[in-house]
Amino acid sequence: MHQVQICCMLLLASAIAGDHGSAERSSPESAAASQEMAGARATLSNSQAGIRERVAAVEALGGGPNGLADEDVRLLHDQMTFQTPLAVQLAAVNLLDRIPDPRITLVLLSDWTLLGPKVHRRVAAALLWRAPCEDVLHVDTVARPELAAALAWARRDVQMRHPAPEIRRQAEKLLRTPEAPPAVRDMLDKFRAAITLQGDATRGRQVFVEATCANCHKLGETGRHVGPDLARLADRSRRNLLQETLDPNRILDHQYLEYSFVSAQGHVLTGMLVDEDDHTVTLADTKGDPHVIARHDIDDWQSSGHSQMPEGLAINLTLPQMADLLAFMVEGTDSQTTP
Ligand code: HEC
Repeated sequence: MHQVQICCMLLLASAIAGDHGSAERSSPESAAASQEMAGARATLSNSQAGIRERVAAVEALGGGPNGLADEDVRLLHDQMTFQTPLAVQLAAVNLLDRIPDPRITLVLLSDWTLLGPKVHRRVAAALLWRAPCEDVLHVDTVARPELAAALAWARRDVQMRHPAPEIRRQAEKLLRTPEAPPAVRDMLDKFRAAITLQGDATRGRQVFVEATCANCHKLGETGRHVGPDLARLADRSRRNLLQETLDPNRILDHQYLEYSFVSAQGHVLTGMLVDEDDHTVTLADTKGDPHVIARHDIDDWQSSGHSQMPEGLAINLTLPQMADLLAFMVEGTDSQTTP
C-alpha cells in the first residue's frame, strides 16, 4: 500500500473521529433503505462493477436519511484513485462536497498528488465555496508534511479566486515564495548577466531545440506543446523568463506535476498527465510523446510532487547562448521562418 495512502487513512480517521462528527448516524434506517445502502456499499467495494452501477451506488449513499456514516466517507475517499473510472471519482467528490463539515476539505485534499487534473479541478471548485476556507489556511504544513503540496496549491487557488478579500489576504500571507535551492541560486548568479546582453533570436532558436526546450514548449513554428505556451506568459520580460527557465518549481502548477505509473506487467511510465477518461490515463514523457495506460492495468503510481520541467537543463549553456535563448523567447512568436 502507498505510504501516502496510509498517511491519508490516519488523516481520515482523525478527520472524521470525534464526538461532534457530522457523519455520525443516530437513528436507525428503515429496512428497505438499509438494504439499499448495503447494496451500494457492496457495489463500491467491487472493482469489477460497471461504471454506471458504481456512479448510481455513490448517489445512493448520498440519499440516506441520516447523512453519511464514517465508513461511507472512507469508501467514497477510496474511489478517488487512478484505478477508478473518472465518472466514479467525480461522483464521489461531488457527494463528499455536499458534506458541510470543514474536516472533509482535508479529506478531499489528502491524496492530492495521487489524483489527476480533472479531479483536481473538481476539488478546486469545491474549495472555493467550502465555508470557511480557513481550514485550508490554518493547517500547519510542518506538522502535516503529507499535505504540504496540496495545501500550497489550494492556498494559491484560494488567494487567486476566493470571493472574500479577507480570505484572499490570509492566503497570500501564507504564500511566501519559497527560496530557491542552492543549485538554482548558483545558476541564477551565473546567468544573471545574460539579461542585459544583446542576444540573437535566430541562434536562440537553435539553443531552444538543442537544450530540449522544444520537446515541451512551442514558440512560433518550433517545438510542441506539452508544457505551458510561452507566448502566453503574462510576464515575458527577460528577467522573468530567466527565472522561470532556471527555477521551474518556484511556483508549481498542479497541472504539470510529474507522475510515475507501474503497469500490472511491471512497466514504469513517467511523465505529465495530459488526459484522462473513464478507462485510460495519458502521460506525455519528456520528449512530449504520449503514452496511454488503461486504468485496470495500473498496479501502482506516485507523483514526485515536482514539475515535469527538469531543473538544470540550462546548466551547460554559456552566457551568450543564454542571451540568445532569452532573445528567442522574447521574440520567438514573431520569427516563424526556419533557418
Ligand atoms: C520535459 C518537459 C519540459 C522541458 C524539456 C522544458 N520545459 Fe519549460 N516547462 C515545462 C513545464 C511542465 C512547465 C510548467 C511548470 C510548472 O508551472 O509547474 C514549464 C515552465 C516553463 C516556463 C514558465 C512558464 C509559465 O507559464 O510559468 C518557462 C519560461 C520555461 N518552462 C522555459 C523552458 C526552457 C527555456 C526550456 C529549455 C531550457 C524548458 N522550459 C524545457 C516543461 C518543460
